[in-house]
Amino acid sequence: MANLLSQSSELEALIVSRKARIGIIGMGYVGLPLALLFSEQHFQVTGFDIDAKKVETLNSGGSYIVRIPAPDIAKAQSSGFRATSAYTEITDMDAIIICVPTPLDEHHQPDLSYIEKTAHAIAPHLRMGQLVILESTTYPGTTEEVLIPILEAGNSAGLRAIRKPGDSGFHVAFSPEREDPGNETVARRDIPKVIGGVEPAASSLAAALYGSIFNRTIPVSSPAVAEMTKLLENIYRCVNIALVNELKQLCMRMGIDIHEVIDAARTKPFGFQAFYPGPGLGGHCIPIDPFYLSWKAKEFDFRTRFIELAGEINTAMPYFVLEQTAAALNENAKSIKGSKVLVLGLAYKRDIDDLRESPSLTIIELLREKGAIVSYNDPYFPTVGHGRHYDLNMTNTPLENLGQYDAVLIVTDHTSYNFREIVEQSQLVVDTRNATKGIDSAKIVRC
Ligand SMILES: NC(=O)c1ccc[n+]([C@@H]2O[C@H](COP(=O)([O-])OP(=O)(O)OC[C@H]3O[C@@H](n4cnc5c(N)ncnc54)[C@H](O)[C@@H]3O)[C@@H](O)[C@H]2O)c1
Repeated sequence: MANLLSQSSELEALIVSRKARIGIIGMGYVGLPLALLFSEQHFQVTGFDIDAKKVETLNSGGSYIVRIPAPDIAKAQSSGFRATSAYTEITDMDAIIICVPTPLDEHHQPDLSYIEKTAHAIAPHLRMGQLVILESTTYPGTTEEVLIPILEAGNSAGLRAIRKPGDSGFHVAFSPEREDPGNETVARRDIPKVIGGVEPAASSLAAALYGSIFNRTIPVSSPAVAEMTKLLENIYRCVNIALVNELKQLCMRMGIDIHEVIDAARTKPFGFQAFYPGPGLGGHCIPIDPFYLSWKAKEFDFRTRFIELAGEINTAMPYFVLEQTAAALNENAKSIKGSKVLVLGLAYKRDIDDLRESPSLTIIELLREKGAIVSYNDPYFPTVGHGRHYDLNMTNTPLENLGQYDAVLIVTDHTSYNFREIVEQSQLVVDTRNATKGIDSAKIVRC
């Protein structure tokens, strides 16, 4: 027992003195910024990724994420940051943080294969006293029902997760990533870090570790509570966005501007938070995470009706945009078939270089199916090829000669766009983001 206590206080001492070596698995939108935050605090960080190109780019001091400039990588390298694909190096780490993708499969069910493969890969290299933290968004139960069993079964030395004080083995916790890409108003350090350890020592070690880069840590009683917390946050957004998307459609029929309504409602100092309608959900989180819970709920013979209804409304939005574009062209005595349409913005939201699940992709496919000749402009994407749910193979079109298009369709309101000029130069502008607010022109159709 004394030995075990000393093991966990040894790790705590390493954390406090910044001597703990941190391994972060998955050098993507979540893992790489996290690695940089720890490096800033002078921890020695190793980034693990199966993508050899990313490993090579990072090791040569480069970046592949627009909002992370290359000098930030070079600065982290001076604190010892490096990347690798060699899982044997897991043994040298004191804390291991897993940030791999958790998408849905083709049947709209959780795809835990990335977490499972990571767990299989690190299991043989775990050693006594290490701290393993899962950050990937997932359904309640994943850490204890999926991650830990694989880690234990794959460790030939028979190492086990510490489940109660007095056990020996490795510590395990879940701590969700809560960042909002592109949001410059809240510093990442100011987003409190929720932590659910399998037992108290795991929680306090994880709190010590994250406490070095976040201003506040929020301990909860179990990994499942932490897993569910992240899902509640995203379901809350998904349901509220669906609500305003539905009300927008009603307001349009009633001749009321939903944005004016929201702006008035948000002046209430309590009980109301503003959500905004748009062309549909995008990103790795809001369109996907709620369905992790719906799937798990079935195991408990429970239907998550709010999630299903919100999903139905939100996934119908690109079709609504298509209808509105067709109606706007019709007003100009044109059909979608044969019309030249320029889609402005591919990213799923303003000022980011991420097009995962972006409604633009669906909208372009729908327009093409109806015979439109579609081009796109997005400063963040010189080309777009094919992904899990799209096959576009297009090249960025310069933002010029806008009068040649029968319609310019605003799907992403990047701040680099000058919407007044865009309206002046275009024949017809279909605006799904209220980007043309304050511009008075008969050419604009807001939907
Ligand atoms: N992007 C966000 O804004 C955000 C916000 C909150 C939560 N999350 C969650 O964080 C998790 C990671 O998301 P992301 O956006 O960073 O994904 P991402 O696709 O940007 O990055 C994941 C990285 O993991 C790597 N990877 C995959 N399998 C691996 C393996 N077996 N070993 C090592 N590396 C592996 C990939 O090559 C990729 O570089 C997801 O669960 C996501 O839902 C993301």
